[in-house]
Amino acid sequence: MAYRITKAKTHHAYDRRIKSGQRITKAVIPAAGLGTRFLPASKAQPKEMLPIYDKPAIQYVIEEAVAAGIQDILVITGRGKQAIENHFDHSIELEETLREQGKRAELQAVQKISNMVNLFYVRQKEARGLGHAVLCAKSFVGHDPFAVFLGDDIIDHPRPAIRQLMQVWQRYQAPVLAVEEIPRERTQAYGIVKPKPLSPRLFQVQDLVEKPRPERAPSRLGIVGRYILTPDIFGCLEKTKPGAGHEIQLTDALRRLNRRRPMYAWQFEGVRHDIGNKLEFVKATLAFALKDKAARPELLEYLRETVNTLCS
Ligand code: G1P
Repeated sequence: MAYRITKAKTHHAYDRRIKSGQRITKAVIPAAGLGTRFLPASKAQPKEMLPIYDKPAIQYVIEEAVAAGIQDILVITGRGKQAIENHFDHSIELEETLREQGKRAELQAVQKISNMVNLFYVRQKEARGLGHAVLCAKSFVGHDPFAVFLGDDIIDHPRPAIRQLMQVWQRYQAPVLAVEEIPRERTQAYGIVKPKPLSPRLFQVQDLVEKPRPERAPSRLGIVGRYILTPDIFGCLEKTKPGAGHEIQLTDALRRLNRRRPMYAWQFEGVRHDIGNKLEFVKATLAFALKDKAARPELLEYLRETVNTLCS
């Protein structure tokens, strides 16, 4: 199907301050949630710092951003989230000790983390939902387009999911949402888009709705935690009233924005781990451990033995 957006409908009509071909170099990571699904593990440490195999969960997300050329990241934090800042900061004593002990590989690994990217932090003072968290990024974002990463979604693919979205951005200079086909009975856990297919994996968003009941869902394409947004989302967020779960929802603000400008959805390539629940968290840990060539043979053997014992 031949479908083209005419020049007049590209970004120029919507935000003159966004330059043609502008790259995405800023990202926002909301990380203020209380992590109640991971209690007691998340009681005294942020759930974003729980390790998936050998790295805290948030590091996977930040590495995806860096791999896609993001330079500045704002993390929206809350009370008790200092461990995130410490993890990405220099640890002078640790580095000294590793140096003295001649542990060069470990020293490099530790230093790499603190040199990875420019990180900024702002506190969301009240837990009023994802939309409200993103609104906390308004002055950091200024007039630039930006990426949003939700830490509960880790997407594994050689071409980072956000880079895939960036390619759609380069073409249309309009907001882009990552989507995945989800089981119909799970629509109440997602923002769901009403899609108009444009080409394989690419859709124009005709509407979107946060956490609809299965019978009311406009499709089975659920929004997954990667977005490319334009700064006009902030005006919409400011006007958005609490919605599902009595929280200010990003999806509701996007719906408002979508009335004014085109918006796209990209069905990304890659394996997504929804680490927001315990079972998927364990699966993700296993999946990443199995990617480690040194650990793989023994882990496979252990899994085989465990399955045999349980099933015999
Ligand atoms: C949030 C968004 C939802 C999106 C989901 C992806 O929901 O509100 O639109 O589909 O992330 O993981 P949450 O998981 O915070 O309830």
